[in-house]
Amino acid sequence: MCGIVGYVGRREAAPLIVEGLKKLEYRGYDSFGVATIGKSLELDKHKGRISENARSAIRLKGKIGIGHTRWATHGIPNDVNAHPHLDCSGKIAVVHNGIIENYAELKRQLKASGHTFSSDTDTEVVVHLIEEEYGTKKDLLLAVQTVVPKLEGSYALLVIADKEEQMIVARNASPLVIGIGDGEIFAASDMTPILEHTERAMFLEDGDVAAISRGEVTIFNKGTVVKRPLELIDWSLEDVKKGGFAHYMLKEIYEQPQAFYNTIRAVNPETVSEFVRHPTSITVVACGSSYHAGLIFKYLLEESCRVPVRLEFASEFKYYPPPIEGLVIGITQSGETADTLTALKQAKTHNCKTLAITNILGSSVSRLADATIFMRAGPEISVAATKSFIAQLAVLMQIVNNISGTKCNDMLLHAHQAIEEILLIDLADAVTVCTSAKDIFYVGRGPFYAVALEGALKMKEISYIHAEGYAAGELKHGPFALLSSETPVIALCTPGDTYGVMISNIKEMKARGAPVIAIGGEGDSELLDIVDIFIPIPKTTPFVQVLTSLVVLQLLAYHTAVALGRDVDKPRNLAKSVTVE
Ligand code: G6P
Repeated sequence: MCGIVGYVGRREAAPLIVEGLKKLEYRGYDSFGVATIGKSLELDKHKGRISENARSAIRLKGKIGIGHTRWATHGIPNDVNAHPHLDCSGKIAVVHNGIIENYAELKRQLKASGHTFSSDTDTEVVVHLIEEEYGTKKDLLLAVQTVVPKLEGSYALLVIADKEEQMIVARNASPLVIGIGDGEIFAASDMTPILEHTERAMFLEDGDVAAISRGEVTIFNKGTVVKRPLELIDWSLEDVKKGGFAHYMLKEIYEQPQAFYNTIRAVNPETVSEFVRHPTSITVVACGSSYHAGLIFKYLLEESCRVPVRLEFASEFKYYPPPIEGLVIGITQSGETADTLTALKQAKTHNCKTLAITNILGSSVSRLADATIFMRAGPEISVAATKSFIAQLAVLMQIVNNISGTKCNDMLLHAHQAIEEILLIDLADAVTVCTSAKDIFYVGRGPFYAVALEGALKMKEISYIHAEGYAAGELKHGPFALLSSETPVIALCTPGDTYGVMISNIKEMKARGAPVIAIGGEGDSELLDIVDIFIPIPKTTPFVQVLTSLVVLQLLAYHTAVALGRDVDKPRNLAKSVTVE
């Protein structure tokens, strides 16, 4: 869940690494550090954000270097626990993304043989183990190759050492991309820091150890040289820049029409495997927003095809595995969420067919699953998922169409226009209500219940206001006790079968004194009369209304968070890609 970047080339490494780390901050941002090989090994690391503390790191000398931006797992965020970590002699430096599960035992052994530890991290054992082997073998590649089999857990490692003109990297269950430039080579957690320099990349596989020198990459797996395909990455540099928007999140919300349009057209019978089109039984595993996308899928598929869909939190699946068979779909925008990967691995042991839905080419989930459908959202930098969520829904809707044998209808082909129009909505009154609230309830029925969950998640993660999504009928079974004039309720009340019962629910909430902000079909005077704030969305198909109401709730969370002065793109304590259980 941390971000790592390494460089070997003809230019000064430190400024490139610092710039790269800034692009990886979405993976963690509580501390950062850089090490380079100049005349000797140079190190600079700090608690806090790169943007505020990078001045000294940029000045490090050398054309080989590694860097890290951290999301703390072992040891609090401070200067000492920040990566890179050094061995006892200060001549070897390591950065690491992942978790070394057997670090406590390794640390005990290393201490017993005289190594001194300065941090509380799991990572530090790696550099001391390498020190042991390097001392006897005098060969950095061999030292790393000898150490990695001793490590249990997940890792993407970058290793440099004084006087060595190479960087050694290793991967197991944590992503690692090698970018091939002109006389220079990058290694990183993903493509975002590399795009500026090259679009040619190789994705390492589990068990790979690679030696990277200025013009050459040699990859080994279990001691044998292996080749990994060179791929062309079609994300543009503009995609990873803010492009005049105040925040990545706002930019990404505005990119949703394009993300939806591109994805809906990319998924067709040729991209949907046969085993996906004729399932006997379906289980979906996912976390966070992706779980909410799975819930919308469940409603859509069960309604249109009467095929039952079981939906599971991937984090629960491993410990409480339900009886499963048939098709298991893992939804994960990052393609690296540890819980989702574990759930899919488990599904495979039950002889289930597995499908991954992800936004990231070369991600772990795409290598694991029997088939993958890629969304076409482009890079999403802001921690809160927006366009990747909308693109997940595009994939899932196309899967519903493929299973039901329905052609993609005009409404769907033009849904991006409805999303585009809703971006212009004025939410000032609703934002005023939300900014002064301590708690907000979101309610809806059917797929709009999932919209309520997602809307509440967006609000809590970026504004830090406590927000809960509820199935509208459930609010009276407990949460009503919390309703007051200070507890706004956001009600999704669009035209459809449950409109009448939603109106009754809203009246019940109003009777308890709660201010109600309703999202409903434009021109709905009945709703307008009973609620405090009415947010109209175009009357179209239920699915398109799901999309437009989601966009409204994303914008509401965004503007509320901005009004409260929050760090929208990097909310406290969170990371975009959660590669630990
Ligand atoms: C983290 C992110 C969420 C995301 C969840 C699942 O918690 O902060 O925004 O929804 O992980 O991520 P995935 O990559 O599996 O979709």
